[in-house]
Amino acid sequence: MKPIRFGVIGAGYWGPHLIRNLSEIPGSTLAVVADLSQDRLEALRPRYSSVTMTTDFREAIGDQTDAVVIATPVRSHYQLAREALMAGKHVLVEKPLTRSSEEARDLIRIADENGVLLMVGHTFEYNPAVIALKDLVEQGVVGRVLYIDAARLNLGQYRTDVNVLWDLAPHDISIMNFILGSEPTHVSARGNTCIQPGTHDVAYVELKYPKGILGHIHVSWLEPCKVRRITVVGDEKMVVYNDVAAEEKLRIYDKGVTRTTSSGDYADFQLSYHNGGVSIPAVAGGEPLKLELSHMMDCIRTGTRPRSDGQSGLRVINVLESADKSLQNGGLRDRISGFDHRNTLAATTANGAESFVAALMEDA
Ligand SMILES: NC(=O)c1ccc[n+]([C@@H]2O[C@H](COP(=O)([O-])OP(=O)(O)OC[C@H]3O[C@@H](n4cnc5c(N)ncnc54)[C@H](O)[C@@H]3O)[C@@H](O)[C@H]2O)c1
Repeated sequence: MKPIRFGVIGAGYWGPHLIRNLSEIPGSTLAVVADLSQDRLEALRPRYSSVTMTTDFREAIGDQTDAVVIATPVRSHYQLAREALMAGKHVLVEKPLTRSSEEARDLIRIADENGVLLMVGHTFEYNPAVIALKDLVEQGVVGRVLYIDAARLNLGQYRTDVNVLWDLAPHDISIMNFILGSEPTHVSARGNTCIQPGTHDVAYVELKYPKGILGHIHVSWLEPCKVRRITVVGDEKMVVYNDVAAEEKLRIYDKGVTRTTSSGDYADFQLSYHNGGVSIPAVAGGEPLKLELSHMMDCIRTGTRPRSDGQSGLRVINVLESADKSLQNGGLRDRISGFDHRNTLAATTANGAESFVAALMEDA
């Protein structure tokens, strides 16, 4: 099989992880690494002596490559991806895909017109623990999902081109969309600008998903402890995914509360608490980034759409745009554009989730 020749644009913090994987995956040839910083290239040169190292990104989208991975700051994603797609390259752009839904739609259009693949680096959708969590939800192990809570906290890394929402929340939004197989209809977000004027470094986001499911995301660059946690609360079981745990990243808690009425009278009820054991499911191995890049290569070879395609990137951008609007409006709930609310209303009515229908009507 002919190897797929890759160019990587951006060799800062994240780029070297992509570079290492692309130099290791069978069937991939790392051909070009481009970075504006000569120092970054010099640091990589000893390990990748046969690879073209350049400060000009155009070499990465020239004759030496078939596909390009973009790991530069968000502000340059659109322009670089656009040029690469127009040059006929398959493109993986790191998250978030772009800085606006308009830019994301443009990239999707250009990729379609040129018959090339456009993918976004929603790495957690390739993470075996997240895939196992999705399976648990789909197999009904947790019962009916009531809410999902996500926390992604650390001290730094501060960005200057985007706020903490655009930097960290793409992971949590993509994980929730992936696990639930749907996208939120409404968002509200509050936060604060503690260190850099005008740039939120802490945010609390509330998402409304179909069937009355609540999503909550807490992201911060200003926390003493590193937290990467997703909690799925169902009416039968609860699951915690702790990404910073060295092992046993997934834990299923057999816990819950049931409300029962003996007389049938709504006011006459009892709450019973169930406090069962904890089980730890087996999770497949594999580095998520390697799995993501291998998936990209399979899709290039077979002509299939990647799991995290341009549309998936756009769905996340739609949420981020609405969340930003809400942040500027003191947390007012915003209806997410790009979502077909009529279909949700019909689906929700069919599922009998009246409270959610009421919320939609309120916003209509
Ligand atoms: N998927 C993940 O889990 C994950 C993790 C971290 C970062 N990221 C994403 O990766 C991207 C890069 O993040 P980072 O932390 O590596 O940033 P960084 O600032 O450490 O590195 C960016 C690099 O891009 C280079 N660069 C900028 N403009 C360029 C251009 N026009 N041509 C060539 N090189 C250019 C810079 O010189 C720098 O070395 C961001 O989109 C970020 O959100 C993804």
